[in-house]
Amino acid sequence: MPAIEARRLRKTYKTTRGVFRREKVERVALRGVDLAIEPGELFGVLGPNGAGKTTMTKIFTTLLLPTSGAATVLGLDAVHDQWALRRRIGFVFGGDRGLYWRLSGLDNLRYFADLYRIPPEVTRKRIPALLERLGLAGRERDRVELYSRGMKQRLHLARGLLNDPEVLFLDEPTIGLDPVGARELRVIVRELADAGKTVFLTTHYMFEADAICDRIAVIKGGEIVAEGTPSSIKKVVQDQGVVEFEVVGMPAERVAGLRGLQGVKSVAVVDHELAQVVTIHCSSPADVMTQLGLVLDGMSLEKVSSREPTLEDAYVQLIGESS
Ligand SMILES: Nc1ncnc2c1ncn2[C@@H]1O[C@H](COP(=O)(O)OP(=O)(O)O)[C@@H](O)[C@H]1O
Ligand SMILES: [Mg+2]
Repeated sequence: MPAIEARRLRKTYKTTRGVFRREKVERVALRGVDLAIEPGELFGVLGPNGAGKTTMTKIFTTLLLPTSGAATVLGLDAVHDQWALRRRIGFVFGGDRGLYWRLSGLDNLRYFADLYRIPPEVTRKRIPALLERLGLAGRERDRVELYSRGMKQRLHLARGLLNDPEVLFLDEPTIGLDPVGARELRVIVRELADAGKTVFLTTHYMFEADAICDRIAVIKGGEIVAEGTPSSIKKVVQDQGVVEFEVVGMPAERVAGLRGLQGVKSVAVVDHELAQVVTIHCSSPADVMTQLGLVLDGMSLEKVSSREPTLEDAYVQLIGESS
């Protein structure tokens, strides 16, 4: 039995648009997602803003009802077995809220342990163990408002682990952290998975998913567009090379000309200071390089280079050139 499973999971939000003539609109956040995550996996859901990551996390953690389809965790249905399910999971949503800043880290954990009705004899051992594991031991009596962002986020994680959950949901847990704080958190998350917990983590950072996840689902517009190990996702661009150069004032018809070259899979143009950076994915960089002069006749190209594709390239190709 999978630890986490979605079957044709769909969610639409009904909102209104306009101030005077209020118009009802339906926004589809999840378009029938199928997903199966095995016990003990560290599974990453990777996608740009608005892809549906938070919506999916909220449904699995019973904070939001799906429109149709099914979501189960440990075989428990997120709609019908929500109380039994909640006892066996932990979750952390990104952002600052949810802690009492005037209280110490220790008092926060004691408060939430009470709220979650964890027996005192369990709490007495578990809280010091969590403080130790999350690198907060020694600072537990300081008020939370004196903590760094990284420490606050680790305290959030400690809160999410108070009930010793089998499955942990983390929605963009490193957002807003500095690089060191983010890395410390990733190390802890990896250790939790290595210790046997199933971890569901969302992120919009390709390198983060690559660094710690066993498997990844790439989500875009409420749909999974690729799924597999980081290395299998890299295969999307395996037989490709990348040609890059800088140019000033690239007209649209020239971009179309590049797209028309033989073996070209995609062309991305990104504004960078005064120039534009053009990235071409193609089967044969050498061929493309020799034809650049023809298509871009009269334009001056700078920093022309070719390189091997990276996981970032695979991600950009999967989610499209607009992001
Ligand atoms: N409460 C809401 N009401 C209306 N639309 C929403 C609401 N929450 C999210 N959405 C929309 O659903 C889509 C997915 O959002 P979300 O799950 O937050 O994506 P992500 O977490 O990947 O950024 C987006 O288009 C977003 O605008
Ligand atoms: Mg989100």
